[in-house]
Amino acid sequence: MNRFDSYFAYLGNELQCEGRKLQYLALEYGTPLYVYTARGFKERFQEIDSALSGIDHLICYSIKTNFNMGIITLMASMGSGADVVSGGELYRALKAGISPEKIVFAGVGKTREEIEYAVDAGILMFNCESFQEIELIEEISAAKKKKTAIAVRVNPDVDAKTHHYITTGKKENKFGITVHMLKKYLPRLKQHQNLIFRGIHGHIGSQIITTEPYIQATEKFIALIADLKKSGWGNIEYVNLGGGMGIVYHEESPFDMQMWAKEIISRLTPLGLKLIVEPGRYISGNSGILLTRVTYRKEGEAKTFLITDGGMNDLIRPSLYGAYQNVLNCIKRDGEEIVDVVGPVCESGDFFAKDRKITLTFQGDYLAVMSAGAYCMAMASRYNSRRLPAEVMISEGGEVRLIRKRDSWEDLLRNEMP
Ligand SMILES: Cc1ncc(COP(=O)(O)O)c(C=O)c1O
Repeated sequence: MNRFDSYFAYLGNELQCEGRKLQYLALEYGTPLYVYTARGFKERFQEIDSALSGIDHLICYSIKTNFNMGIITLMASMGSGADVVSGGELYRALKAGISPEKIVFAGVGKTREEIEYAVDAGILMFNCESFQEIELIEEISAAKKKKTAIAVRVNPDVDAKTHHYITTGKKENKFGITVHMLKKYLPRLKQHQNLIFRGIHGHIGSQIITTEPYIQATEKFIALIADLKKSGWGNIEYVNLGGGMGIVYHEESPFDMQMWAKEIISRLTPLGLKLIVEPGRYISGNSGILLTRVTYRKEGEAKTFLITDGGMNDLIRPSLYGAYQNVLNCIKRDGEEIVDVVGPVCESGDFFAKDRKITLTFQGDYLAVMSAGAYCMAMASRYNSRRLPAEVMISEGGEVRLIRKRDSWEDLLRNEMP
């Protein structure tokens, strides 16, 4: 199977995954329903792991892309570490059985409470994004009489050539510290007795489909590390290149993982550096879909609308970034038409697809929003007092397991005090 062939594909005219017909899953579990393939998560993880076999490396699955415990537990069972960006994600990673020595903690706004939690847990390292944060980690570590490992997130000012909302490695982005500013801060860092400066971190963006931005960032990082080593920072042993590896949503041609790995390994090996990567979308993106039912087929004067029971609160990428998500009918029919696939939420921006050619579709049909494993359920909300969807995982043997119950009406009111 080609790495980007969908795990959710037509067999005859019925959309299936691991031999399970998706419209039957929709009938059994209700919609909107997220459906994941365990094989997808495993194969993408193994692909990266084997591409990096030539270097001492750690893969830290980026929990933010999809944080269901059924998924984190699956990742833990394969030996994955975790990239977390909040106390909540750290809590999930630890609960799922990921060893603290495989957890890295990024994010520009870590609070005192979150830092204390991670220091107590003994995580592998913090990826620090500001000097204020480093000062606070030092203070907390000193109070707890602990030595805490940090990497500094360096903003390499590299253009990842992706959507501006998901570009993170340019000077004008809020992430990381520039090389120039880091160098000025080093004398102060030297005084911190409770910190071990172990690595350089750099996540330059998401959905990156060429190797060039990674090569540019890596070259900047190794030049910096060579400099640092000369001036007495001998503990620096890690380069963390973050995540960002792109997938296919539509007609993209993402880089080949083996080629990418070769370029990176050849640059890091002469300095004897270890590599951390934090892939999210690459592992989860094509490993999930959203099933949704057509509540109404509304033929307007200007357009035909397929109004689905899933909306922007369940899957926001098209509304948020104008992102393309492929939409397939679970039953392929003869004949096609051009429609808008829209949700029930009271916003004109509530759509999955606009002016899209799809199989002739009727009221009551089930649609699959494809490539919905990353940044979809993870960004779901209860806007319009809509209940969060259910999620199921299909194993390689075709067994289906509910990994999140649909919200009940009572769940909507939980924690509120009338
Ligand atoms: C620090 C960090 N690492 C990893 C990731 C995962 O990125 P992706 O899903 O593009 O692989 C992100 C995404 O925002 C991030 O901020």
